[in-house]
Amino acid sequence: MYKELLDLNHIPQHIAIIMDGNGRWAKAKGKLRGEGHMAGAQALHDLMITVCNLGVKYLTVYAFSTENWRRPDDEVNGLMKLLFKKLDIDIFMDNDIRFCVIGDTARLPKDVQERMNYCISRSANNQRGTLTVALSYSSKWEITEATKKIAKQVKEGLLDVEDITDETIDKSLNTSFMPDPDLLIRTGGEVRLSNYLLWQCAYTELYFCDTFWPDFDEEELCKAIYDYQQRERRFGKTSEQVTDHSENHINDEYK
Ligand code: IPE
Ligand code: IPE
Ligand code: MG
Repeated sequence: MYKELLDLNHIPQHIAIIMDGNGRWAKAKGKLRGEGHMAGAQALHDLMITVCNLGVKYLTVYAFSTENWRRPDDEVNGLMKLLFKKLDIDIFMDNDIRFCVIGDTARLPKDVQERMNYCISRSANNQRGTLTVALSYSSKWEITEATKKIAKQVKEGLLDVEDITDETIDKSLNTSFMPDPDLLIRTGGEVRLSNYLLWQCAYTELYFCDTFWPDFDEEELCKAIYDYQQRERRFGKTSEQVTDHSENHINDEYK
C-alpha cells in the first residue's frame, strides 16, 4: 500500500492531471467510448475526494481540449451532455470544494455554461480544496489570449514594455489564481503534454503511467505521489543548496 509510505509533510500542494485513456478502457472491455467517459467521470469524482483528504489544495484536470472539438459530433455531444449532468453543486458544497474552470468556455453549449457559472459562484468561498477543470482548453490558446491582453495594456499606455516580466504573464493567464503544479500526472500511456499547462509546468515534476483513467484509483494516486516524494527538486540550484525540502518550494507565497 503506497498510502502508508507517503510522507504526509511533503504532499504536493497542486496536482495537475491529464485524464487520458477513457476510449481505450472502453474498447478493452467491449464497451462504447461513451461508457468510458462515464466511467472516467466517476473516477474523477472519487479521486477529487481522495486528493482533498490527502491535503492537496489544488487539483487541475484536463477534461476537454481545444483539439477535442475535432472529434466526431456524436462523441462531442455525448461529452457535453455528460458534463451537464455531472456539474452537481451538491458535490462541491458537501465536500467544501471550490470549483473553477479554465479554457475557452464561450464555445461550450449555453446550458453547460449556465450550470458551470452557477457552480463556480456558489462554491467560490469553499476552503478545503480547489478543483479546476480545463474545458475547451489549450495552452497555446491561453498564452495567445494573455498576449493579446498585455498588448492592449501597452497600446493603451497602461503598461510599459520594459515592465513586462514573467509575473505579468502569470497574471494574464486563466490560471492566475493558482500556484504552478508541483506534480503533473498523465494516465493512459502517452508521453506528451497535448497542449496542457505548458507555461505553468516549467518546473513541474512529470509522472506518466499506463493505467487508463477510469482505473486510476487511490492506490495509483499514492504511487504517483510517492514517486514524486523520491525526487529532488532543485530549481536550477545544486543538490547541496536544496537539501531542506521545506525551503525548496517554488510556490511558497501560496502556503
Ligand atoms: C480522455 O480519454 C478523455 C477526453 C479526451 C475527453 P480519451 O477519449 O482520449 O481516451 P483514449 O485516449 O481514446 O483512450
Ligand atoms: C488530452 O487527451 C486531452 C484530455 C485528456 C482532455 P487526448 O487523448 O485528446 O490527447 P492526444 O490527442 O492523444 O494527444
Ligand atoms: Mg486520448
